[in-house]
Amino acid sequence: MDWQAITQRIEVAVAPHIGTGKVADYIPALARVDPCKFGMAIVLGDGTMVTLGDSHEPFSIQSISKVFTLSMALRHYDEKVWDRVGREPSGSAFNSIVQLENEKGIPRNPLINAGAIVVTDMLVAQGGSAAFEAELMARFHRLSGDDSISVDEEVAESESATGSRNRALAHFMAAFGNMANPVEESLQAYFRQCAVRMSCRQLARAALFLAFDGCDPINRERLVSRENCRRINAVMMSCGHYDNSGDFAYRIGLPGKSGVGGGILCIAPGHGAIAVWSPGLNASGTSMVGAIALEELVEATGWSVF
Ligand code: DON
Repeated sequence: MDWQAITQRIEVAVAPHIGTGKVADYIPALARVDPCKFGMAIVLGDGTMVTLGDSHEPFSIQSISKVFTLSMALRHYDEKVWDRVGREPSGSAFNSIVQLENEKGIPRNPLINAGAIVVTDMLVAQGGSAAFEAELMARFHRLSGDDSISVDEEVAESESATGSRNRALAHFMAAFGNMANPVEESLQAYFRQCAVRMSCRQLARAALFLAFDGCDPINRERLVSRENCRRINAVMMSCGHYDNSGDFAYRIGLPGKSGVGGGILCIAPGHGAIAVWSPGLNASGTSMVGAIALEELVEATGWSVF
């Protein structure tokens, strides 16, 4: 693979679009980010890291955290995860409540907010919110080899202060008996996982296990079983971008997860993990420039799974 030519091609493709899209402003601490930022990191199975732009700069991973918590829940609970959350695309916005009433408090999938709150609630039930956060952060530190990854306290507080919608989702699910802990405890844990700051380099490195059957190809740590790895990728492909998941699969053809901080994590099974960051979002909360960069990468590498 001629990575120099590929990165140049991506740079040319994204250049006219830098700064487009809308920076998330429903969490005030996120609204201040420079819309012209662009970073990308591609990590291969042998540890090779190909980077572009602001790949060193930490950003708020937001909903990308949902992929990591799902992998932890599958490890702890295996098939039982699916008793409390579905695995169908919602076709609705990330924070939608409409399906929860008809579907008796069982969220459509673990990557919408309601589903991710239930997943976090399962993990908090194991040993409390502090133990959950310690396990999540230890994973990030171990996999990326960087102990500096941390929760952005200001973003976490801002999420909580503006979190009425997530509180509504969580209480609604509690009314159906689908929350195991005090609602506020699980919500705080969820707000904090969303507020983790990571760079494209760290994020792609931490997710590499998802491209290699659940086992990190560099330190050989098994994070999830082969079957559960395949299932996480399937859920990312069908649900990772909410009501934009079909378009993302059509354009890019890789399992992915967006976050309103402007990050996208993509998995190229058998090849590597990719993290891209650019804060301007489309209407579904997916980075506009990030998706363009991934489209170009997939065209240049032939990495689409289709
Ligand atoms: O729950 C929220 O509102 C945020 N913490 C996460 C939302 C998010 O990243 C949606 N994704 N594109």
